[in-house]
Amino acid sequence: MSENLSPADFIGVCGDGIISFGSGQPDLPPPKEVYKILPNYSDFKYGLIQGNANLREVLAKQYPSSTPDSFVVTNGASEALDLTLRVISAKAGKGKNKVLLPKPYYYSYPHMIKFAGMEPVFTELIDGRIDFDDFKEKIKECSAVIINSPSNPTGRVESIKTLKQIEKITEELGVYVLSDEVYKDLIYTRENYLIKGPRVVTINSFSKTYAMCGFRVGYLWSRDQELVDEVIKIKTHTSMNTNILGQEMAYEAATKVPRSFIDNQLKIWEARRDMIYEGLVNLGLDLWKPEGAFYVLPKIKNPKDFVMEMFKKHKVITYPGEWFGAPDRVRFSYALDIENIEEGLRRVKKYLDEHGN
Ligand SMILES: Cc1ncc(COP(=O)(O)O)c(C=O)c1O
Repeated sequence: MSENLSPADFIGVCGDGIISFGSGQPDLPPPKEVYKILPNYSDFKYGLIQGNANLREVLAKQYPSSTPDSFVVTNGASEALDLTLRVISAKAGKGKNKVLLPKPYYYSYPHMIKFAGMEPVFTELIDGRIDFDDFKEKIKECSAVIINSPSNPTGRVESIKTLKQIEKITEELGVYVLSDEVYKDLIYTRENYLIKGPRVVTINSFSKTYAMCGFRVGYLWSRDQELVDEVIKIKTHTSMNTNILGQEMAYEAATKVPRSFIDNQLKIWEARRDMIYEGLVNLGLDLWKPEGAFYVLPKIKNPKDFVMEMFKKHKVITYPGEWFGAPDRVRFSYALDIENIEEGLRRVKKYLDEHGN
């Protein structure tokens, strides 16, 4: 393992007494309804590039004033973000190729922006939330912004007031909003607020809510039909259709899984949130209290040494904050059961007893 760690060093690493606060995937089982179809499933053909019609019809019922035509089912939220950025880059042309990112950010965003031939511009969060004064200045030079509330890696949820201010200013300036809502069902403090507007692209996924990360089913929805059509054009010549079995399972999830499944999961996440937040506070660490998603981002002295030693000596995986634009912090995902969180905290304590913070 080199000193220059990358997510690939940790994703999927397990066993041998390792406790992983690394990867952001739910450890909880998917609802049984989604895999009941497996024994009788036999369709192996190419599917519609835009996505299975039955799934888009169900999705259209979940989003007010949408139609099945305004959705594209993608390989996770990841492909939806990638394709949307590429379309915006082509539309914006050379002059206005900047994308605003609240920082700390989900680690793939800057890479995706650059792959699309655009440049990330950053607005620093204050106390883990968007500083609208800075935002409103920086947004003027951008053709798009990515909003991720609840956020990976901060666990924070933006206030409805800020989200409405963002809706207003981006509509006035004609700036695209990519609203990455993959954690919309994992909010501890209030209902999700759906960001709306003519240039809003809502991005979501079945990965987190239904613990279906590996099936790679996500989607985008926008009132900007031209953008949706351009996304389909790129998808036609890149990945083609999204995994059709995954889409059928997503359809089962959207139609057969009761709301109580999501509510029960939320209770489990909240208990874990309380345990890790209080545990780290008791160890003297400075961190924001998560209001959604399943991450904490405490400040840690010498974060890279912490990550390396925690892995090599204490068999605990954590991610350096620098991957997320937070070089003085370390990210912990609490997608693991209470016993493992407790044991992980004991090992963090051992490190801190030795090195201080
Ligand atoms: C903020 C955010 N967006 C997108 C993704 C990717 O999700 P998907 O599995 O749907 O591609 C993740 C995964 O961790 C995420 O945290």
